[in-house]
Amino acid sequence: MKKPASTDHPVHDLVRERWSPRAFAEKPVAADVLRSLFEAARWTPSSSNEQPWAFIVATKDDHATHSKLVSTLVEFNQLWAKHAPVMAIAVSELAFARNGDPNRNAFYDTGAAVAHLTTEATARGLFVHQMAGFDPQKTIELFSIPAGWEPIAAFVIGYPGDPQSLPETLRERELSPRTRKPLSEFVMSGSWGHPASFLKQ
Ligand SMILES: Cc1cc2nc3c(=O)[nH]c(=O)nc-3n(C[C@H](O)[C@H](O)[C@H](O)COP(=O)(O)O)c2cc1C
Repeated sequence: MKKPASTDHPVHDLVRERWSPRAFAEKPVAADVLRSLFEAARWTPSSSNEQPWAFIVATKDDHATHSKLVSTLVEFNQLWAKHAPVMAIAVSELAFARNGDPNRNAFYDTGAAVAHLTTEATARGLFVHQMAGFDPQKTIELFSIPAGWEPIAAFVIGYPGDPQSLPETLRERELSPRTRKPLSEFVMSGSWGHPASFLKQ
């Protein structure tokens, strides 16, 4: 299913076509495609080129790791995310490796890495659905994540599926329109709360 953004201004197809589905096809994601997705994450810019991200990833055929990952999700997310062929959790290193100082951009950079991965995925007809609804402490324990690293977000990757395969409440959400705040609410200039002048047409 497609659910392109109804944008107020033109954007690249990769931006327009990306969305976060909950229905995924059973079709697996090939290993070479997964390598390309994480290669895209690898080339994300980061503060001091620290690259403070790591990913725990499993495809469904690695049943043991995949079900461990799924078990970290809140019940609502498990319901649909367990059907996607790939699941991952993004983890951030909280201090600079070079001097141990806190890296206040670690989360920012890790989010950017997932965004890069998502763009590469979109270009390949794949979709990514990110999730805050998971248990970071359980993730640390299940995967022996070392001190100084924090699980940030979970996500699944897969090809689009049939919304009819979802339970009714999820199907409704799948088919409901996508909405966004207007640019004038968050693109400012001069002082806080003043929309940037280039927004006026
Ligand atoms: C960091 C983050 C956490 C999210 N957590 C969840 C989640 O736990 N469960 C869920 O179903 N969707 C989750 N989402 C998906 C958002 O609800 C979705 O991105 C938003 O509604 C915009 O829809 P779109 O991605 O289709 O444009 C999350 C997205 C992000 C980026």
